[in-house]
Amino acid sequence: MKTLRLSSSDEDLKTAGEIIRRGGLVAFPTETVYGLGANAFDEKAAKNIFRAKGRPADNPLIVHIADKKDIAEIVSDVPPKAKKLIDAFFPAPLTVIMKKSEKIPLTVSAGLDTVGVRMPQNETARRFIKAAGVPIAAPSANKSGRPSPTDARYVLSDMDGEIDAVIEGGQCSIGVESTVISMVGDIPVILRPGAVTKEQIEKVVGEVRLAKAVKENVTNETVRSPGMKYKHYAPKAEVVLVKGSASKFKAFTANKKGAMALCFEEDEVAIPRVTYGRQGDDESQAKALFSSLRHLDELGAEKVYAHCPSETGVGLAVYNRMIRAAAFRIIDLEKPFLIGLTGQTGAGKGYVAKTLKELGFNVLDADLISHQITDEPAVLGQLQAAFGSDIAENGKLNRALLAERAFESSEGEEKLNKITHPAIIDAAVRAAEFPAVFDAALLFESGADKLCAVTIAVTAPEELRLKRIMARDGISEETALLRMNAQQQEEYYKTKANAAVINDGRDIKTQINKVLGEIL
Ligand code: TXA
Ligand code: MG
Repeated sequence: MKTLRLSSSDEDLKTAGEIIRRGGLVAFPTETVYGLGANAFDEKAAKNIFRAKGRPADNPLIVHIADKKDIAEIVSDVPPKAKKLIDAFFPAPLTVIMKKSEKIPLTVSAGLDTVGVRMPQNETARRFIKAAGVPIAAPSANKSGRPSPTDARYVLSDMDGEIDAVIEGGQCSIGVESTVISMVGDIPVILRPGAVTKEQIEKVVGEVRLAKAVKENVTNETVRSPGMKYKHYAPKAEVVLVKGSASKFKAFTANKKGAMALCFEEDEVAIPRVTYGRQGDDESQAKALFSSLRHLDELGAEKVYAHCPSETGVGLAVYNRMIRAAAFRIIDLEKPFLIGLTGQTGAGKGYVAKTLKELGFNVLDADLISHQITDEPAVLGQLQAAFGSDIAENGKLNRALLAERAFESSEGEEKLNKITHPAIIDAAVRAAEFPAVFDAALLFESGADKLCAVTIAVTAPEELRLKRIMARDGISEETALLRMNAQQQEEYYKTKANAAVINDGRDIKTQINKVLGEIL
């Protein structure tokens, strides 16, 4: 098939309209992204959209109209709040979901009894719909899973030869897809954020909720917006979303050889970069996002560190696309510790900590800190209140006596941890300098893992750990085994940590570097 290139002249739009009426597919510009249109009343034509895009059949299409009065034949009912929204916003980058009419085939609604309706702002889009004389069912005009096309040339790079025509209308002014809002229940729910923001909608209809899928990965749940469950907007490169200030982003990416940065125009980075808008200017970010993702592909990027946008206003729409482009991999540099390090006794956590120190990390050792904090009067006071005032004399802790009292029961140990863990974590946070590592045997048990961008566990085969503990502490096999069994088992660490270093005699530095490359 040869794909016709059409302009926005009356004559060309007439041709486009004819193609639609005889069941063909026409890509057209809108203010958000290009759509791939077909006659919304034509089941067969709608099927061809799914085929051309490679789109899963359970993901419904939006129906586009040129005039508000066209809504009547598409939906069975316009609830009062939906009417308010339509009156306040249409034409807009806003899709309103209502109960569908009989006329909308189930292929278009993907089997649902609802349909999304949108009246685009873009003049060419509305003139095209008018020329067709029927409502236009259209998803974004990209291959399924690729970034949405914000320019006709991206439509062609995905779809050339597979669709009847494309109307060339330059770059889209907004750049991210419409806000999708369900008006079916009592309280409206935003299924996909876009240029019409929650705040703007709330001014018109009162309380509005955000679907969980807007900010989270819901692959394993039933979702109200089927589109949100697919890996989306993905460039070919592996993308990691990085939260944090400009200076932290710069420091973090500095040694990422071979990778590229996707960042704001103001960002200074030491690796090659592609920008997407200006810092703090969410509209400029939305406009540039998808073309920047495609540009990274053109440059052959394999790994990309993307500087995270803010989640407010239109930024929420940008964030929502970004977390999907990154397959939900987010590194938060504003957490106090870049890495949390933990592991089984005798596995060699200390050696890994030392290696990280040599690599330039600021390592905070929970054991060392635990000895220092007991000198603090506040902590000492709490310990005395819990275990007897005689455990300290002249402000000096008698460690042996404290251990004897605390470890005689599991309740005692719990009481001790409740006092010491927060104090240790506090002191470590105060001493942490980017990039910091918190080295703690009880990283997960104390909740400190939540303060770490990523976590690494060090494990080792049991026989090896046994030998190491006996040699290190000069204790019998029996005592060593008791200590080992009092701890969590390997499985615990492996399921909780982002990565494991397995200290079984293989070169440890190679493993550490590999793990760091994988999780950072
Ligand atoms: O800005 C846009 O909305 C663009 C332009 C072309 O209008 N279109 C677009 O369509 O982005 P598409 O198909 O790529 O995304 C439509 C989204 C999907 O996430 C889909 O699951 C959701 O809207 N959706 C459509 N109808 C729905 C319905 N009845 N119930 C729930 N979600 C629906
Ligand atoms: Mg799409």
